[in-house]
Amino acid sequence: MRNNILAGNWKMNCDLPMTQELISNIKKQLPEQLDCEVMIAPSHPFLYAAFNDSLDTPIEVIAQNVSQHENGAFTGEVSIDMLQSVGIKTVILGHSERRDVFLETDKDLAQKTKAAIDKGMRVVFCCGEHLDQRNTGNHFKTVTDQIEKALFDLSSKEWKQIVVAYEPVWAIGTGETASPDQAQEMHHHIRKFIADKYGDKTADKLSILYGGSVKPANAQEIFAQPDVDGGLVGGASLDADSFIAIAKAF
Ligand code: 13P
Repeated sequence: MRNNILAGNWKMNCDLPMTQELISNIKKQLPEQLDCEVMIAPSHPFLYAAFNDSLDTPIEVIAQNVSQHENGAFTGEVSIDMLQSVGIKTVILGHSERRDVFLETDKDLAQKTKAAIDKGMRVVFCCGEHLDQRNTGNHFKTVTDQIEKALFDLSSKEWKQIVVAYEPVWAIGTGETASPDQAQEMHHHIRKFIADKYGDKTADKLSILYGGSVKPANAQEIFAQPDVDGGLVGGASLDADSFIAIAKAF
């Protein structure tokens, strides 16, 4: 019905030799029979090398971010056309590190998402609450607000290009994971929110990934939840053995 996806977000880690070695190690261990799409997101300067190294494998190389602007005087930014010119078809948007450290707003994310969708890209759209928002019972509203503000101007057709990644900020890089029940509860809430606006067909086809301290030891239980369609993995994706072990958890 919908695709399982395992995506490794390498964040600002690995230089060129490390990037290529990690890809080589993942390729060596990748099982022939996989029950998920496999994506990796290296840093921008290495996307082209990573794309070439991953040709003839099931691995899709994706980007961690992109500008909403077409081209021009935006020093330090990377455009959608640039990504596409090196073979990239999918981009992560709205990661909590982009929101919190680089102050990306819901409006920026709406613009980035629309620009990427219009150019035919797939978007892995991240959402998730901070600990205080969960502790005060505001986690559901926080997450649905993020989705509504950035994605609810899209058409049902455009939603085919969206993957949602729920990443509770308190579980990112902390070793603390949402329990399988907490993940399922939020994923179900997200799917229902989208079904209420776009209908069951759109919601049922949407892959919703969980991110936040996913490891080989907890992946199976989290991925077994009915509304969890895979993972967006940070730290554990930087080690080929653990990334592959997570890929086998589906
Ligand atoms: P960790 O798996 O290191 O907690 O990171 C999750 C994440 O932010 C993936 O985008």
